[in-house]
Amino acid sequence: MLEKIAITAMMILCSSLVALPSNAQQQTDAHGPQWWQNAVFYEIYPRSFADSNNDGIGDLNGITSKLDYLHELGVDAIWITPCFPSPQVDFGYDVSDYEAIDPMYGTMQDFDRLVGEAKKRNIRVILDFVVNHTSDQHKWFLDSRSSKNSKYRDWYIWRDGKGGQPPNNWQSEFGVPAWTFDKKTGQYYYNYFYPQQPDLNWRNPAVKDAMLDVTRFWYKRGVAGFRLDAVDTLFEDPNLTDNPPAPGKDKFGRPNFARIHNTKLPEVHDVLQDLRKIADQYDAVLIGETWTKDIAELKNYYGEHGNELQMPMDLMFGTVNKLSAPEFRRQIAAVDSAGGWPVFVISNHDMVRSYNRYGDGVHNDEIAKLMASLYITLRGSPIMYYGEELGMQNNDPRRKEDVKDPQGITGWPGEIGRDGERTPMQWSDAKNAGFSNAKPWLPVPPSYKTHNVAVESKDPNSILSVYRQLLAMRKNEPALVNGTYTALNEDDPNVLTYLRKDKNEAILVMLNMSNSPQKIKLNLAPQGFASPKLTVLLSTFQQPTSAAPADAVDLPPFGALITKITK
Ligand code: NOJ
Repeated sequence: MLEKIAITAMMILCSSLVALPSNAQQQTDAHGPQWWQNAVFYEIYPRSFADSNNDGIGDLNGITSKLDYLHELGVDAIWITPCFPSPQVDFGYDVSDYEAIDPMYGTMQDFDRLVGEAKKRNIRVILDFVVNHTSDQHKWFLDSRSSKNSKYRDWYIWRDGKGGQPPNNWQSEFGVPAWTFDKKTGQYYYNYFYPQQPDLNWRNPAVKDAMLDVTRFWYKRGVAGFRLDAVDTLFEDPNLTDNPPAPGKDKFGRPNFARIHNTKLPEVHDVLQDLRKIADQYDAVLIGETWTKDIAELKNYYGEHGNELQMPMDLMFGTVNKLSAPEFRRQIAAVDSAGGWPVFVISNHDMVRSYNRYGDGVHNDEIAKLMASLYITLRGSPIMYYGEELGMQNNDPRRKEDVKDPQGITGWPGEIGRDGERTPMQWSDAKNAGFSNAKPWLPVPPSYKTHNVAVESKDPNSILSVYRQLLAMRKNEPALVNGTYTALNEDDPNVLTYLRKDKNEAILVMLNMSNSPQKIKLNLAPQGFASPKLTVLLSTFQQPTSAAPADAVDLPPFGALITKITK
């Protein structure tokens, strides 16, 4: 039962309670939270969201037609993955013109209309800025490769080979060589991803100027910020020092190397500071695709003076691949200790959907509600992935000939690629899940019959209904935005329990990450609540309508309970 039910519980003493130092947690400033701190973000993969012209591929007018749905869900900002002209080798992450819209997705007028309609619903639009590389069809690269004397030659990274071999041992992320030989000029160019994605030379001031201008172009059109793609790989060692070998093999079966000379070079911070100065002029936000290995690296991306990314994504959170209260507790505490504004991500277009990653095959819907209750109530700004609110699951290709993602084409069968998590949004149980009248570019999974917007909207216990309540709760309860995070019962191996507290209120979140019932005992006296009264804000399970047991709170397997505490 999901409606509010008042229950009173006396808490018994529990010695394991430890509070995190609240000074480690950057609070919102004196004027209150920034818009992006208040916001719930929602990632849209435009090929797969809504197809308005029935060609099997989603488009901008499709997104516009679904803005009411997003508004009712409680979304404040949408991040649209690249919708710019592109040969689509990496489905838009190979941009051939940064200042236009791919005709497949619509026109600039469609884009302006989308921004305008979104604004009417208080939804901001964030674009994806592919900063590391362009498409090999971008006019800069076409010119660059045309001659060694091209004005654009030094916009990319061109080098001579070594005795008929590439210039050094660097590897591409996509299982292909990182250096591509170009017959016409007899040199190699560098591509951290696919050969059709040549790396820009950010050491060239002209490149930097042109790219900074791209952000101004979109800000003037009303864009509220950027998700910066692959920032870790912006710079390379100009001496091209070989990377040292590392243990094991990668997912393509190649020997590993520690990518110390071509990723995470310190020069990236200068660029981020420049991007931020412009963003600040437009009250815009910069979100980073930051694959950090530890908190120190994550912390660096905020900038020494908080002058780089406002929202570097904590993608380490999504690598906690099993439901484990201690693992999540550790990860959350670590991110909180970084001192910045956290960005917790559990799904995106590059990782297997959370429904599959955390699901046990039996309680998947309950687990989806549990995970929602976790990342929407943590300190920071959550970024949802389209369809996550429905419990959409991966639909992976079974045959190599069906694979569309370049990673899967190269890596099959060891690496099957990312098609599975990019399937059409499930709007209804109609043909093609209501996404399009034409055959969609990727197939919908059979689960669309039950897990779709139309069906779940009618069910007060659906995953969608839980998301709607969580997003509404985040708006109504300031402690969920402003409040500190305090881990409770830190020795509990099964239940993740924490307090979100500001000066006026406190919210208690209890998440049973185990498949057995759990009884939680709490002592909230050190938090200033000697005889607390709990009011249920959300429960993912049937609640007793009478008072709860005096000494404890019971949670069923994978149950989530969120309560407000008053004295
Ligand atoms: C990260 C993006 O999320 C991914 O989809 C893309 O393939 C690479 N960057 C290359 O741009």
